[in-house]
Amino acid sequence: MTVVTVETRSPSGPESTILGPAMLEIPLILSKKPGAAMRKGTETLKTASIIQSILKRIVYPRHFWSGIMHQRAMAHTARVYDDSQLSLYAEILPGDFLNLGHFEDPRLQPQDITLRDIVRAQARHAELVAELIADSTSPVLDVGCGMGGLIRVMLAKGLSPVALSPDRNQIRHVRAKYPTVTIVETKFEDIPLDEHIHRYGTIVTSESLRYLKLDRALPLMEKLLKPGGRWIACDSFRVGEERSRSGYVWADFERRMVRSDWRFVCQRDHTPNVVPTLRFVYMWGNDIARPGVRFAFRKLQRKHPRAYYILAEVIEAINGRLDQNLDLVNPDAFVAHNKYMLLSMEKTS
Ligand SMILES: C[S@@+](CC[C@H](N)C(=O)[O-])C[C@H]1O[C@@H](n2cnc3c(N)ncnc32)[C@H](O)[C@@H]1O
Repeated sequence: MTVVTVETRSPSGPESTILGPAMLEIPLILSKKPGAAMRKGTETLKTASIIQSILKRIVYPRHFWSGIMHQRAMAHTARVYDDSQLSLYAEILPGDFLNLGHFEDPRLQPQDITLRDIVRAQARHAELVAELIADSTSPVLDVGCGMGGLIRVMLAKGLSPVALSPDRNQIRHVRAKYPTVTIVETKFEDIPLDEHIHRYGTIVTSESLRYLKLDRALPLMEKLLKPGGRWIACDSFRVGEERSRSGYVWADFERRMVRSDWRFVCQRDHTPNVVPTLRFVYMWGNDIARPGVRFAFRKLQRKHPRAYYILAEVIEAINGRLDQNLDLVNPDAFVAHNKYMLLSMEKTS
């Protein structure tokens, strides 16, 4: 087998590694005399350094082990404890809400919507949830409290919220912003029962129901609520058989609740009221983010064809992921396969 030794400089001195035949082309560029490289122009050098930097991180033992350690550390941090997607939404939206919002006028078109309108719609959503809280003296458990927007609304109403989230970034944020509020840092399914049993007049799951494992969550709801307490939930549910979407199938959920002796005190379909937010996100994703990404890849292909070639599968995967994510917020697909419900439920026995 032909092997080539590549030598590079690092802060700790020169490093060398042995590359197999598949990587021959790269060392050949690197070993060109300075004059030859100059004649090819800086583009060649840039391409080479991109490829070299990627390869260095793949093949050098030091980088290889660092990579494995990083991979291990992240594998042990399940997404639920450090959700970067939700952190991104929180950075974009200043209202401390991570929900789809509630637009009173469902006909609003995305070109006429501003970020401030979205924040206002999210606050309206929280108001509608808070209005359903019937017991104003007992503590209210906000399951999946996100960045604490609903906590703020409840405090303003003189209620006693308790914030629960497994996500350490959200917990840090809520703790700093609402220092007087009790905080429970855990998944709902792992809440310590002895500390919380029959403590709550209301439990709220605002767009967090879809993350809960119902087998464990349903008996817990009953044990955490005081007798006569209510569970308020708002979330999107799947209607029909489309498997790729997240959330529970509405018909299954409804059947299961009735079978477990829960009664729907309130059942409102707010699908049209969340659609303007989806139209807005879809417009930005489809009309701005997607062409931006396409432009960046085209530029990479033109300026650094070799790097583009090496990264071809990664690029394909990124494009596929982008399409998938956009499909999830496609308003027409959402209306065809989902419904968004605001619910209040009570145990009957
Ligand atoms: C879409 S956000 C909604 C945030 C907030 N309720 C709102 O309306 O703005 C979903 C929330 O559920 C939380 N979550 C995810 N899995 C959970 C679990 N197993 N138990 C409790 N919360 C969970 C997330 O960390 C996040 O806070």
